[in-house]
Amino acid sequence: MSDSKTPLLDELEKGPWPSFVKEIKKAARTSRKAKDLLGQLELSYKDKKTHWKHGGIVGVRGYGGGIIGRFSDVPEEFPGAAHFHTVRVNQPSGWFYTTDALRQLCDIWDKYGSGLTNMHGSTGDTVFLGAGSDELEDIFTELSKAEWDLGGSGSDVRTPSCCVGPARCEFACYDTLALTYDLTMAYQDELHRPLFPYKWKFKMAGCPNDCVASIARADFSIIGTWRDEIRIDQAAVAEYAEKGLDIQSDAIRRCPTRCMKWDGNTLKINDHQCTRCMHCINVMPKALRPGTDTGAVILIGAKAPIVQGAILSSVLVPFMKIEPPYEELKDLIEKIWEFWDEHGVARERIGELIQRVGLGNFLEAIDIEPSPQMITQPRDNPYIFYEEYYAEEKEGGEA
Ligand code: HEM
Ligand code: HEM
Ligand code: SF4
Ligand code: SF4
Repeated sequence: MSDSKTPLLDELEKGPWPSFVKEIKKAARTSRKAKDLLGQLELSYKDKKTHWKHGGIVGVRGYGGGIIGRFSDVPEEFPGAAHFHTVRVNQPSGWFYTTDALRQLCDIWDKYGSGLTNMHGSTGDTVFLGAGSDELEDIFTELSKAEWDLGGSGSDVRTPSCCVGPARCEFACYDTLALTYDLTMAYQDELHRPLFPYKWKFKMAGCPNDCVASIARADFSIIGTWRDEIRIDQAAVAEYAEKGLDIQSDAIRRCPTRCMKWDGNTLKINDHQCTRCMHCINVMPKALRPGTDTGAVILIGAKAPIVQGAILSSVLVPFMKIEPPYEELKDLIEKIWEFWDEHGVARERIGELIQRVGLGNFLEAIDIEPSPQMITQPRDNPYIFYEEYYAEEKEGGEA
């Protein structure tokens, strides 16, 4: 029999892969918080239930968001884990840090916290795990002095996040890092002071590969795309073929709109039919590239299931140029916020509000014309009528 105090957690250290138990144990050598976290977690495995209470409001002066309360329901047994809050630190665009910057963050965290972090949380932030209520102001002061800021939490703009974009990737159709930085700066108030019905997530992806999974995770997804033709280097296509790529079955037949042709010499694309899915470009990145008239498609409404079921985002604006100072984009964002502020009920995400009031009413309120790109398939329900459509027809008839 082992005399370990955490026999159940020890099971999760076995095997060659990284283990969160190993990491918590390392932190526990110097941190009482991490030690009690380990104890509480073992108890959770034993009792087969969590020992965290739900939520709790904590924060720092002047901010409403940024820190997520976490309290233990067995504080007498594990005083080090009694207050074990999550501090969200606003990460740099694209998660680029110098080693100095990382050391600085880690030093602050070793001084006050459990030494445990999430790099990065799902929203994108650098996450400090296990802050005590009494230490929050000091942590915030030190972060601010070192020019770091807290991210979003609660019913506010969550920390905007993006893919590495043009910094590391040739597919980027706009500068995701610059836009993320700009929106973060422009919406500081909305980021730190929760005044919305519920959370609002921006995610910027440089191309339809959508490496930040914005389509599933963002209320407002800005996904790079192009309006002109896919750039084709025919010689490079031929080289792929020579080297054994089966262009017919690996590219042509997998094109979702079947808009490509390959006669063994020349690749032809009917760009009007192309949905910019990126498949062919991903298969032959040396031969094919997105076009040069680039911008982004704006999608709206993704969310995970809480009040209602999960929703993937859908097209709101098929194409928009994304260039500083991003006025058109910000106008759109602010119109949507106004409508959501006025009509959203507590804990209702924008996607749910659109489902409740209907896309038609939503579009009218934010002044956007309906377009075929907004729907996934033609109408199959004869019970839905388009009043305006009939009104227009009548007017036309009388003229
Ligand atoms: C040449 C003959 C016919 C033509 C051109 C015709 C055309 C149409 C059209 C255009 C609609 C509207 C579809 C829509 O709103 O999407 C319709 C609906 C309908 N037709 Fe006909 N129709 C014909 C014969 C008939 C006959 C013989 C019957 C019954 C015995 C019939 C029963 C219906 C019914 C019940 C609907 C309503 C369907 C619904 O709303 O679900 N039709 N028809
Ligand atoms: C006791 C007998 C019947 C019952 C209980 C019944 C019930 C219904 C119900 C509940 C609906 C759906 C209404 C809606 O969703 O708005 C419907 C629609 C319909 N029924 Fe019946 N029905 C009966 C007999 C018939 C018969 C005998 C016919 C044709 C000869 C018929 C033709 C239709 C048609 C064409 C529709 C579609 C109406 C439309 O598209 O506007 N029904 N019926
Ligand atoms: S989303 Fe596109 S641009 Fe961004 S990293 Fe992925 S492939 Fe590159
Ligand atoms: S991007 Fe997708 S839809 Fe467009 S041509 Fe390539 S495979 Fe077809």
